[in-house]
Amino acid sequence: MTSTSSTQAQTGSVKAGTPASEFSHRLAQVAETVETFLVDRLGPEIGLGEIARPPRLMEAMRHAVLGGGKRLRPFLAIETARMLGGSEAAALAAGAGVELVHCYSLVHDDLPAMDDDDMRRGKPTVHKAYDEATAILVGDALQTLAFEIVADPTWQPDARIRADLVLGLARASGLGGMVGGQLLDLTAEGRFGAANMDVDDTLRMQAMKTGAILAFSVEAGAIVGGADAGQRAALLRYGLALGQAFQIADDILDREASPEAMGKATGKDKDAGKATLVDRLGLDGARAECDRLVGVCEDAVALWGEKARTLRDAARFTVARKT
Ligand code: IPE
Ligand code: IPE
Ligand code: MG
Ligand code: MG
Ligand code: MG
Repeated sequence: MTSTSSTQAQTGSVKAGTPASEFSHRLAQVAETVETFLVDRLGPEIGLGEIARPPRLMEAMRHAVLGGGKRLRPFLAIETARMLGGSEAAALAAGAGVELVHCYSLVHDDLPAMDDDDMRRGKPTVHKAYDEATAILVGDALQTLAFEIVADPTWQPDARIRADLVLGLARASGLGGMVGGQLLDLTAEGRFGAANMDVDDTLRMQAMKTGAILAFSVEAGAIVGGADAGQRAALLRYGLALGQAFQIADDILDREASPEAMGKATGKDKDAGKATLVDRLGLDGARAECDRLVGVCEDAVALWGEKARTLRDAARFTVARKT
């Protein structure tokens, strides 16, 4: 499934605001731009400072990154920068960097030692298509490529902006962000001893494993767009609420959607003992929390009025999506 066709299929359920077809068209457009950028970065041409690109590693990286995914993270970076009048080229590079960290997180998340999944984005996971050692190295190489792109002056000449982006991406990705959240997610399964995560613990874990990178996607757009402190705070509120809603929706879809629609296994979280809001609050409680969080997102960007339409639509898409 190409990113364009999958995005169009995914967005039929956006209910209010921009007509679904318009939002779907914009998301598909951005996905195509991101795809072109990433195809170029993952080609056989040896990059500056590189010695060689081992074909097996490069092919496995292409398998992990190209031809799938909603590309929501770069979409948020680009649309936030656009709303603020920032450079779209710089936002694309920053968003592509975030997407690569996201792809690396998925490759490692699927490993037998983590969630042990065989399908991702409608294809075999990297360790299935290749092998575990290659999948570990794919994740490592995607992460460093992400930082290389974000730090590259080609797309962003201002060194202070690049440093801000690198710092933000590092913080969102590591110990106190995505990686730390993944550890807490596994802890909740009880594999390191008895664990009993209440609703607040679960929300903190979600904010880390998923929310931090989604919130940084928005923040990247804010940095590129030159947002002031007040605007940054409003956009952070939006990004954090969107991140929470995104993981709750993923956990609802794990219960309700088919593997075919999702392009990955479903119905696994409960048996694995994952801590989710669906488990803690029930499906209706989780849905109500999603609706509340969409309201928080809408309030957070109210100061931009009509200019924030796409960000409002993105929040609704996050909870209405079917994939
Ligand atoms: C899946 O993210 C992992 C979670 C954080 C829940 P996405 O649903 O954005 O995955 P892709 O990029 O569209 O495949
Ligand atoms: C993943 O959460 C969060 C990541 C940091 C990758 P899940 O484990 O629920 O994501 P899926 O359902 O495998 O995509
Ligand atoms: Mg996981
Ligand atoms: Mg998983
Ligand atoms: Mg999931």
